[in-house]
Parts: sequence; structure tokens; C-alpha cells
Amino acid sequence: METQNIVLDIKNHIATVTVNRPEKLNALNAETLTELYQVFKKLKQDNAVRVIILTGSGEKAFVAGADIEEIRRHDDISGRIFALRGQKIFRFIEKMEKPVIAAVNGYALGGGCELAMSCHLRIASEKAKFGQPEINLGLIPGYGGTQRLPRLIGRTRALFLLLTGEMIDAATALQFGLVNEVVAPERLMERVNEIAALLAKKPIIAVQYILQAVDQGLDLNLDAAMNLESELFGNICATEDMKEGTSAFLEKRKPEFKGK
Ligand code: COA
Repeated sequence: METQNIVLDIKNHIATVTVNRPEKLNALNAETLTELYQVFKKLKQDNAVRVIILTGSGEKAFVAGADIEEIRRHDDISGRIFALRGQKIFRFIEKMEKPVIAAVNGYALGGGCELAMSCHLRIASEKAKFGQPEINLGLIPGYGGTQRLPRLIGRTRALFLLLTGEMIDAATALQFGLVNEVVAPERLMERVNEIAALLAKKPIIAVQYILQAVDQGLDLNLDAAMNLESELFGNICATEDMKEGTSAFLEKRKPEFKGK
């Protein structure tokens, strides 16, 4: 697949997707967003890929937002379409049946923060900065920021960030629970690859069910969410991997999962 602004590298069941527009701090213009979607659709189909890492190219930015030059041209109708399009693509990433890890190497602002929040795990470099600065442009977030941020860090902190447009550093993002870990910039890709390698060895159906249970369950009431969990638990009990994992434990050996 030919892409201009997205670089894809696949090794040992791990795909690394790099947004590659460093001269614009990896800002997501329409073309980049389309390519991102094409790449994730391809990765969804690729059974050899078990874990996906998403990062930005260059020293400075993960993604510094949607492309402001493009946004400026929108009116009420095209603006709605713009938001729906980005939301659909980010939701596609969030609903991937394989873990997606954001390696946040620098600025994750606006659409960049929204993109990172659509990933399942976020590992940040000490240099990373997060924020939803749309308010300073006379805008509001349109790729899920007003919804995912309060869900991830709570309404109080989210409203502060959304209303002030202020950035937070990686240490604060960790304290807020916005990221899983913060590491030195030079360790970032090594650490993210370590986590990816760990996840790539897990039984894939269980991985898929955990992602599904958390994604769907969080927005259900507790009884409906428990119902979903028990249904998935029943399904997982019918897998060969469950028999293998439990037998291996009892036989004091390492399990060999087959993804069945
Ligand atoms: N959309 C379009 N272009 C962007 C961009 C965005 N979201 N973010 C950065 N760029 C461009 C700049 O216009 C500049 O282009 P130029 O060299 O052609 O002038 C280039 O990327 C480098 O950015 P610059 O602002 O010069 O870097 P900086 O180190 O001084 O500042 C930021 C870095 C991230 C603080 C600053 O670029 C910024 O505030 N970006 C916008 C963040 C934002 O509001 N995102 C939400 C968008 S809805």
C-alpha cells in the first residue's frame, strides 16, 4: 500500500504505524487521516499482526492536532462531516480487536490527544505534552475529545483542560491517569516494544474479549455490563486456548496458545 504520510513497519507480529509529517508536527490533514484509516483497515485483516504501535515522526510531536489550515475553511455542514469522519476513524482504531499502544513522543494536542485517547494504552516520553487547545482557536474538539477525556480523567480535570486549553506535561498526565507510563525519550520505543512483545504472546481471543468487554461495558449499566462479561466468559470457556492455559498451569508447564 502506497502512503505519503503514514509509515508502516511490521515485525514479529507487531505493526508500528508512524504519522510522518514532521514539518507540520504530524498534524492530521485529510490525506493523512485517510491513509491512517487505510492502514488500520489493512492491519485489522492481517492475522499475522497481533499488536499495533502508533507514534509520530521526529523529535517534537506525536500529533499536534488536526490541520488548522483545513479546519479554517469549514462551514456548518462541512464541519459536521469533518468531525464525523475523524470520529469514525478514531472509533475504528478504538474498536480494533488487537491492542493499540500510543507511543507519545512529543506534542499530543487537539486531534493528537484525541488520537492517543483512542488507543488502548498510552506510554509517554518525558517530553510529551497533552492538551485540547481548540478553545484557543475558537473551536471545540471534534474527534471525541469532549467525550473521551472526561471518561478517562474525570469531569473535573477534563473540563479544566477543555475550557482553558492548557497543556499538561507527561508527569501530570500520569498523575491524571491519562497515560500508563512515562519513560525517558530515548527509552520510549524500546519500552513500547517490550509491552507489545508481551501482549503479542497472549491468547488472542482472550485479548479480543477483554478489549470488547471494557469498550462496550463501560457505557452500559452495571447489570447489563455483567451480562456482557458472563456471555464473553462463557465464550472463552469454549476455546482451545482456555483448555491449554488451565491445563498448562496444572501440569506446571508453559502454555502454547494457538488462537483457537
Ligand atoms: N495544523 C496545521 N499546522 C500545524 C499544526 C496544526 N495543528 N501544528 C503545527 N503546525 C505547523 C505550524 O504551522 C508550523 O508550520 P510552518 O513551519 O509552515 O509555519 C509547523 O507546524 C511547526 O510548528 P510551530 O508552531 O512553528 O512549532 P512551535 O515549536 O513553535 O510550537 C506547538 C509547537 C505545538 C505549540 C504549536 O505548533 C501549536 O500550538 N500547534 C497547534 C496545536 C493546536 O492548536 N492543535 C489543535 C488543532 S484543532
